[in-house]
Amino acid sequence: MKVVLIQGDGIGKEIANSVKRVSDALQTGIEWIPYQAGAEYYQQSGKLMEDGLIEAITENKCALKGPTATPIGTGFRSINVQLRQKFSTYANLRPVHSIKGVKSRYENVDLVVIRENTEDLYKGIEYMYDANTAHGIKLITKEASERIARFAFTYAKQHGRKKVTCVHKANIMKLTDGLFLDTFREVAKDYPEIESDSVIIDALCMKLVSNPTQFDVLVAPNLYGDIISDLCAGLVGGLGFAPSANIGKDVTIYEAVHGSAPDIAGKDLANPTALLLSFSMLLKDNAMAHLAEKLENAIYETIAEGKTTTQDIGGTSSCSAFTDALIERMK
Ligand code: NAI
Repeated sequence: MKVVLIQGDGIGKEIANSVKRVSDALQTGIEWIPYQAGAEYYQQSGKLMEDGLIEAITENKCALKGPTATPIGTGFRSINVQLRQKFSTYANLRPVHSIKGVKSRYENVDLVVIRENTEDLYKGIEYMYDANTAHGIKLITKEASERIARFAFTYAKQHGRKKVTCVHKANIMKLTDGLFLDTFREVAKDYPEIESDSVIIDALCMKLVSNPTQFDVLVAPNLYGDIISDLCAGLVGGLGFAPSANIGKDVTIYEAVHGSAPDIAGKDLANPTALLLSFSMLLKDNAMAHLAEKLENAIYETIAEGKTTTQDIGGTSSCSAFTDALIERMK
């Protein structure tokens, strides 16, 4: 199979290299089609993404993406947001679970964040009303709300999950979040075998920090989904362990939840686990579950053993040494 590979910015090159090496060791037969995109490519070329990237993703339907940096406040629009809207990858699937050997506040977290990926405040509808007043429009449609709610319930059904919780702030945003919540409740009626409930975003943050095991599948509009998935990553040891898939009708783009980590870029210090686990999701979705299992076992056993781990979890090994250890274990 052919997969478009965007290594992206910062630590992207190092962690994408780890995935390529692991893929070779697993003999997946994947042919990588490399394309450049991101802030570093923009600086060199004046373009955000290489010509042909959109066509390559359209043709091959599957991409693995490293992080791409986005300027704060000014400058170009996020490449992630552009790709998600272009390919209508409406569901951002972010599984989160505790990993033995990674110190964190809890040992038994096992939940899934499903983030609506195409609208809400991330639609990018912003303008200056006057010199001192900025407007941003929160766009929520029934169609997208229904699509993501159905995705969440179908996912729960297919993966043996018991409960789906809708995240909202409909007490204040009565029309936008109200529509999201009402639509969720309508869709829930079609899945009587799955328990459903709802929680206000601020209360959810408190409950996640104090007792995350009460949650199973969380479905949220774009902004809340973005924030709570970083919070959930923090519950299981940090951003180095949070994979994701941006899923659309035709195209899936796999990527780590974390960003380009400019503070450690180019030093071979990054933890490649999140991108490797995103790659594992790719393998499972493409009839290579046995290889995904082999990779995940190698990751979890290497971390649990504790001899070769990266600095973000208190180890001293480099990204490449950790990758070497995985490859050795998979032999
Ligand atoms: P970040 O996720 O890049 O880094 C936050 C902290 O986590 C840093 O201390 C970093 O060193 C650490 N970290 C992140 N990933 C790590 C890994 N794999 N191994 C070890 N440590 C890791 O977030 P930040 O600094 O807010 O954003 C940097 C840039 O990344 C920004 O330009 C932002 O727009 C972009 N970004 C891109 C994303 C994407 O392409 N999907 C997602 C999030 C941010």
